Amino acid sequence: MPFKNVEGRPYLEGVAKRVFAHLILPFVDNPLSRQRIKLVWFVWGYWPLLFCPCQLSIVQRFGLLMKFMRVDWHILHGHTPNEMARIVIESVRLEVGPGAAMVEAGCWNGGSTAKFSALCECLGWELHVYDSFQGVEDVSRVAGEWDYSGQYSAAENTVRDNLKKYGADIEIRICPGWFADTLSRTPVPAEIAVAYIDCDIAKGTAEALSGILPSLMDKGVIFSQDYHITPVKLLLSSAETWVRLKHGRPEITQMSRRLSKLSWT
Ligand SMILES: C[S@@+](CC[C@H](N)C(=O)[O-])C[C@H]1O[C@@H](n2cnc3c(N)ncnc32)[C@H](O)[C@@H]1O
Repeated sequence: MPFKNVEGRPYLEGVAKRVFAHLILPFVDNPLSRQRIKLVWFVWGYWPLLFCPCQLSIVQRFGLLMKFMRVDWHILHGHTPNEMARIVIESVRLEVGPGAAMVEAGCWNGGSTAKFSALCECLGWELHVYDSFQGVEDVSRVAGEWDYSGQYSAAENTVRDNLKKYGADIEIRICPGWFADTLSRTPVPAEIAVAYIDCDIAKGTAEALSGILPSLMDKGVIFSQDYHITPVKLLLSSAETWVRLKHGRPEITQMSRRLSKLSWT
């Protein structure tokens, strides 16, 4: 394929990264300003939202696009437009009717949550959000984990404010606490069509799975935003994990460097 360098990365992407690293990064400290500048490149990743076949009308597609770009401008978040577009398309293609639930495990400032609320509004789904609101759990003493302790910390009120300003007008169930004390103890009280796990650690991913799987519909899917994090990838790929969770082993589809989809059909 043309435009590939030796690492297999598209040539243009390499150039864009170098331009950003050398000409912009040294002069822009504010992470939200950096996110806004990066949008010039990343915003094109929303293309599946407009062009991939699915049940959404053209009005709904443009509506979601506008809301998503507003979030990208105002809330610092941890996913790319292309990852979000793929999650939306896959969710809509499940053709699950109103009343089903979407679950987010790990919301940071609520950027992804605000976007999911817009999707749930379109589909008539409920949205359930779980987070410590204290950042990534300290797993520095857990063998094999990568250490992101305390990163991505945002207060529950910050998330609520962001959702009020940039989210859809639907009721969102927010469950504060470590997954070990919430999801791991009490399964989500709703029929889940789609779950999205983004907590950066294998321990948290396993705990989130233990609360999601008992409520997951047969055709439901789970996205992991952490597939580039080796301990998480190992957890999801290991047959032992699924024996422990007493659930069939999923088919894992890698959708981007970081995003993977777990499905069982
Ligand atoms: C990378 S951020 C999520 C980013 C967000 N999904 C987005 O796209 O902007 C990771 C989140 O997981 C939460 N988290 C990490 N470990 C957790 C745990 N064990 N229990 C509960 N929340 C956890 C953190 O508080 C943080 O908000």
